[in-house]
Amino acid sequence: MQKIIVVTGGNRGIGLEICKQLAAKGHIVIMGCRDEEKGKQVADSINGVVIPKKLDVTNKEDAIKIAKETTELFGPIDVLINNAGVMSQDNVLEVSAEEQRRVMETNVLGPLQMTQAFAPFMQESDDPRIINISSQMGQRYAQTADHSAYRLSKYTLNGLTLQLADALPNFKVNCMHPGWVKTDMGGESAPLSVEEGADTAVWLATAEGISSGGFYCERGVMEW
Ligand SMILES: NC(=O)c1ccc[n+]([C@@H]2O[C@H](COP(=O)([O-])OP(=O)(O)OC[C@H]3O[C@@H](n4cnc5c(N)ncnc54)[C@H](OP(=O)(O)O)[C@@H]3O)[C@@H](O)[C@H]2O)c1
Repeated sequence: MQKIIVVTGGNRGIGLEICKQLAAKGHIVIMGCRDEEKGKQVADSINGVVIPKKLDVTNKEDAIKIAKETTELFGPIDVLINNAGVMSQDNVLEVSAEEQRRVMETNVLGPLQMTQAFAPFMQESDDPRIINISSQMGQRYAQTADHSAYRLSKYTLNGLTLQLADALPNFKVNCMHPGWVKTDMGGESAPLSVEEGADTAVWLATAEGISSGGFYCERGVMEW
């Protein structure tokens, strides 16, 4: 069945590949991007229906506008993939409050605000799903002092996923680790391609028999 799917940070990296794979499966993809021009350029190169929309995940009003326009055109939104994220290079004893805020704003408040904006427009879906792209660096076992703002943001995002799963019992709300993926964030040494990195998100968005409140990696539940 064709789904209506919103992907944040869809203009490059793992988000772009998620858009490509979902469009190739015949779904209607709303590609959130901060720079609409860049979004249009990449969306035009994808086979299938990919609609670029200007969306900074720190802007809830824009998200509500997109949700309204999308439901008017296509009906209820089925899936929200909170993919947009930023990395930090820091140490917990030195990280500034400003840097912590920057990372939390995008990686935690972003998914929270996007969910608050889109969830009311997903209630009529037969199978509403939210997927938060987290990281292995968000696991309890991975809370080392380096990249501290990033690690803490993903740890918090995992907790937020549980809260949202509780608040939205008719939804499937999950978070996941894409693996270490060759992107601007992951760098050239990463072992995985974007195709591999996008796989679990696409599976969580479309497969049958998915439950709610899990942390996934390589299509399996992982402890965090
Ligand atoms: N790559 C890895 O190895 C890896 C591993 C674990 C988890 N992850 C997670 O996977 C997700 C995607 O990572 P990636 O490697 O594809 O990163 P990336 O190549 O750096 O791309 C990040 C994307 O997020 C967007 N973005 C950042 N801040 C945003 C904001 N405020 N509003 C809207 N969009 C925003 C960027 O948009 P602009 O182009 O406008 O900057 C870009 O599209 C992230 O959540 C990341 O933490 C990645």
